[in-house]
Amino acid sequence: MLVAPSLLSADFGNLDRDVKKVCESGADIIHVDVMDGHFVPNLTIGPPVVSAVAKSSTKPLDIHLMVQNNTFFVELFAPLKPEYISFHIEEEKHPHRLIQRIRELGIKPAIALNPHSRVEDIEYLLSELEMVLIMSVNPGFGGQKFLPAVLKKIEKLRDMRIELGLDFLIEVDGGVSDKNIDVLKDAGVDIAVSGSYIFGHKSPEEAIRSLK
Ligand code: DX5
Ligand code: ZN
Repeated sequence: MLVAPSLLSADFGNLDRDVKKVCESGADIIHVDVMDGHFVPNLTIGPPVVSAVAKSSTKPLDIHLMVQNNTFFVELFAPLKPEYISFHIEEEKHPHRLIQRIRELGIKPAIALNPHSRVEDIEYLLSELEMVLIMSVNPGFGGQKFLPAVLKKIEKLRDMRIELGLDFLIEVDGGVSDKNIDVLKDAGVDIAVSGSYIFGHKSPEEAIRSLK
């Protein structure tokens, strides 16, 4: 299991320290939540802060856009050279075009699905994707309770991946901890995003190890 600590639960007054800490503690990739106050009722960070995070991090960045104007934000964050950019399917009229643009920028494209969204709706995009992000809480805030109904969706996506002979990664985001990591692994998850569990743990290193 690859582990992606979500900085949403880090100490924003000590971001450099917290980013370095998780990088040294076994994190595989750093999950950055970008919220615009429109798609979700919360507002987070923009390029200046994410650029500082990139400098502190020895691991690649995984940018999760929770915004209305995906194209604008993709162009804004592309110069920071993240490994992945994921955008929400619920907010995109031209997902195929945007996937192509992200790839053209040298970044791995990913699509995020809200808890109510169906994996069948992105079937014809799957072959173009490097990753699918399955939200297991409603996007907007850290520290929410995991929604068990998404397990079936993850299994369905894993089955589709096998049937179609594809190799995109499956990422789960929201309410992930040592309590549900085993069922998530069994369902087909490759990358676990975890915020409050890792940063709220007395030892982030122990938390990351328990997830792995
Ligand atoms: C929620 C974000 C998540 C969040 C996860 O909108 O996308 O990345 O920070 O936090 P936890 O692990 O606390 O649910
Ligand atoms: Zn996220």
